[in-house]
Amino acid sequence: MEQPGRRVVLAVVLGATAAGCSQYGEPKNKPSQTAPANAVLGTTDEIPVGEGKIFDQSQVVVTQPVKGTFKAFSSTCTHQGCQVTTVANGTIDCPCHGSKYSVKDGSVVAGPAPRPLPPKQITVSGDSITLS
Ligand code: FES
Repeated sequence: MEQPGRRVVLAVVLGATAAGCSQYGEPKNKPSQTAPANAVLGTTDEIPVGEGKIFDQSQVVVTQPVKGTFKAFSSTCTHQGCQVTTVANGTIDCPCHGSKYSVKDGSVVAGPAPRPLPPKQITVSGDSITLS
């Protein structure tokens, strides 16, 4: 004869195990790979002056704080590792907890990020932008 009490206990244990394995607090949009060095990212005309563009595949954000000056940073937020998703109004924005970084130097402007976005080396040759 079956013991209904055991089923209840087993369901509770499985539920607790599943909850313990949840991904709470971890970024949901982590790309799995980064582009190799010397990868062509794009062209200078793709980067708006005073703003920038996120290259998801390469996990790089390229900005143009002033006309003709290009900067590049990791697109991985220094708070908990989400990928930044927006560049607007002079900041690079993370959607997870609201961190904002300056397009000028990657410094933290707002939010819980503990450090600036790490810089990335790029080469601008003609109108081509290459990850160094
Ligand atoms: S991961 Fe928390 S603000 Fe970006």
